[in-house]
Amino acid sequence: MKALITYFTMGGRTKKTAEAIASVLTNYEVDFFPIELTGKFVEKIKMLDKFENDDFSVIEPELNTIDALPYDLLIFGMPTYGDKPPKAFDEVIARIGDLSGKKAVVFNTARFTGGKALEYMKTKVEEKRVQLIDQFKFRKLFWIGTKNAIKFGKKINESLD
Ligand SMILES: Cc1cc2nc3c(=O)[nH]c(=O)nc-3n(C[C@H](O)[C@H](O)[C@H](O)COP(=O)(O)O)c2cc1C
Repeated sequence: MKALITYFTMGGRTKKTAEAIASVLTNYEVDFFPIELTGKFVEKIKMLDKFENDDFSVIEPELNTIDALPYDLLIFGMPTYGDKPPKAFDEVIARIGDLSGKKAVVFNTARFTGGKALEYMKTKVEEKRVQLIDQFKFRKLFWIGTKNAIKFGKKINESLD
């Protein structure tokens, strides 16, 4: 079976979590669709600002390739910005194609909150008629480890209908 992990990261916490989950998905061949802000802090913020204003021109070629078709399982991992996932999440959902009947998992990373953002993600994927098999909020104020992500990944790996 094939899984696609789509994640957005600015500081590396969501990437680290996504990779830890992937490391235990032994029942799946895993691909990643990473949206990673890089460069100096100011550059990252400028890029984030563009994205939040629905300007995705910088990653347009990558976004054009995203396609759920070959995958059995779609995992979406996002950070939390003001109690919502970044706009890139909505953009991915709009472009990913038909998700009906596919298995899906949503997770987010946050420092203090995250519950509302996770609910938002869940609603968005359910609107696309997925079979939501799991969800998780990774909330840590400072250091985000991989222990919970590995535990979560193992649970996903074992949920085979
Ligand atoms: C602009 C901005 C807004 C944020 N808003 C929230 C928030 O509303 N609630 C929260 O718990 N954390 C918030 N955070 C913290 C991030 O969600 C958290 O650090 C996340 O794990 C970052 O993931 P990343 O390292 O993959 O970019 C915010 C961070 C930034 C930069």
